[in-house]
Amino acid sequence: MQRLARRWQSERIPVGFVPTMGYLHAGHLSLVKRARKEVGAHGKVVLSIYVNPTQFAPTEDLAKYPRDLQGDLRRCREAGVDVVFVPSDAEMYPQPAGEAYSTYVLEENLSRRMEGVSRPIHFRGVTTVVAKLFNLVLPRVAVFGAKDFQQATIIRRMVRDLHFPIKIIVAPTVRENDGLAKSSRNKYLSPAERPQALALSQAIQAAREQVRQAARPLPAAKLKALLTRQIQAHPAARVDYLEFFNPRTLEPASQVAPGVQMAMAVFMGKTRLIDNGLL
Ligand code: PAJ
Repeated sequence: MQRLARRWQSERIPVGFVPTMGYLHAGHLSLVKRARKEVGAHGKVVLSIYVNPTQFAPTEDLAKYPRDLQGDLRRCREAGVDVVFVPSDAEMYPQPAGEAYSTYVLEENLSRRMEGVSRPIHFRGVTTVVAKLFNLVLPRVAVFGAKDFQQATIIRRMVRDLHFPIKIIVAPTVRENDGLAKSSRNKYLSPAERPQALALSQAIQAAREQVRQAARPLPAAKLKALLTRQIQAHPAARVDYLEFFNPRTLEPASQVAPGVQMAMAVFMGKTRLIDNGLL
């Protein structure tokens, strides 16, 4: 991959990069479209598929994370991806002569909030694997989804802090017709849970409505309590976190007004879903 990327670099061919864990859906493919728009017809679009073990805790769904390489390759071909990069664990985390792998990239501020509270090692795994993929693919532009808002914010910070010469684009969340954010994990939802999963996007709509109707900023704690009650009125739903914050710094907001970002994680039965939106 790196040899090919260096050849493209020497030929002044720009590369647009979409890192994924596969099981591709319309959300991922919207990022491919955006990458193509950035690099043009003479540029190259690379999509990586790698279920990165270091971003999963031992208790999480690494082993049963959904996979469909043949289907993914077909979708990539149809979407006009030039190269699908599917590295192995041994390539991504080399352990020559059995020596333990030992180099990580750690963002120490933004990574500690929200997802980082529930999943303490998650973002260390994400920043590490994305930095490694950047060094292999050598992209000019990389596209991430707003669906994982905190992840995209952390990647932006990493790129700035470590001087990666890469433009980061964050593309809008693609949703099902009824509002559920597309996610590889939606496949885990039972027929009874699937309609209840609308609680997340409905909470964002409800928060927008509250903000629109309010004459002055709303206390975040009050709005959080109200929305948590509404979400948990669905029997399968349990709120993991629900936060209001500054979209750039991820600093918590004590007052909710237009321009504040909202994000949440909700367990629907055993499946953990996330969603977010700008109010
Ligand atoms: P994955 O969950 O496969 O997502 C890959 C990319 O697709 C991410 O940038 C994510 O935000 C974006 N995406 C997922 N669902 C989306 C939707 N409904 N609309 C728009 N974009 C969507 O995120 C990861 O993989 C990994 O953490 C990774 C960055 C690849 C590092 O391992």
